[in-house]
Amino acid sequence: MKKRKIEIAPSILAADFRRLEREVKAVQDGGADRIHCDIMDGVFVTNISFGPMVVAAVKKCVTIPLDVHLMIAAPQKYIARFCDAGADNLTVHADAVDDLPGTFDAIRALGVRAGVTVNPDKPVSLFQRYLDKVDLVLIMSVYAGFGGQKFMPEVLEKVRSLVTERRRSGLDFAIEIDGGITAETAAASINSGVDVLVSGSYIFGSADYHAAIERLRGAEQGRAQ
Ligand code: DX5
Ligand code: ZN
Repeated sequence: MKKRKIEIAPSILAADFRRLEREVKAVQDGGADRIHCDIMDGVFVTNISFGPMVVAAVKKCVTIPLDVHLMIAAPQKYIARFCDAGADNLTVHADAVDDLPGTFDAIRALGVRAGVTVNPDKPVSLFQRYLDKVDLVLIMSVYAGFGGQKFMPEVLEKVRSLVTERRRSGLDFAIEIDGGITAETAAASINSGVDVLVSGSYIFGSADYHAAIERLRGAEQGRAQ
């Protein structure tokens, strides 16, 4: 298997918001490649998290890119707001928008990388024909809405099919996975072909962020279960 750089994206949903600046700087110093911001509106998902003001504040604290994962209804209405706030990668749920290709074009027109995702019970066929318009595909390995849930290994089948499709088509979108990532599930994900690991509880729940990040990045073939 070709050796590739695995990127780590800590999700601030699990950070201590009393000291968010220190938290995001600590994961950046610990080797994180991007910061993952989970946006929930209480409509598309039952939970409510935070909006563009917090994204803009995080942007001022770090130099690594921001992943913004929109778990909101009618995300196309908020593309400009989140791009202005500092999103580098903006990801929408395929079933939350009517005009998927138009949404990807609108994101890219603002100079931001477009991402698409689906919950574990939704197929990649929802967006497969638009893969040439996205820079990243986020595979949800838990149902969107809450941190700290258990990884669903069956979604790795989607990762493997995307790896095959990417090779067949010659496209170069990144494959990211989100939810329940630990050293064990990271190994299984990397072995299936994932490029970027999102992790909230595992990183922010550990005493040493750098060590946790490097454990995820180094989770290798042979250690997967
Ligand atoms: C779930 C979010 C995830 C989640 C990851 O709706 O998209 O980013 O916060 O957190 P852990 O790593 O705790 O599952
Ligand atoms: Zn997320």
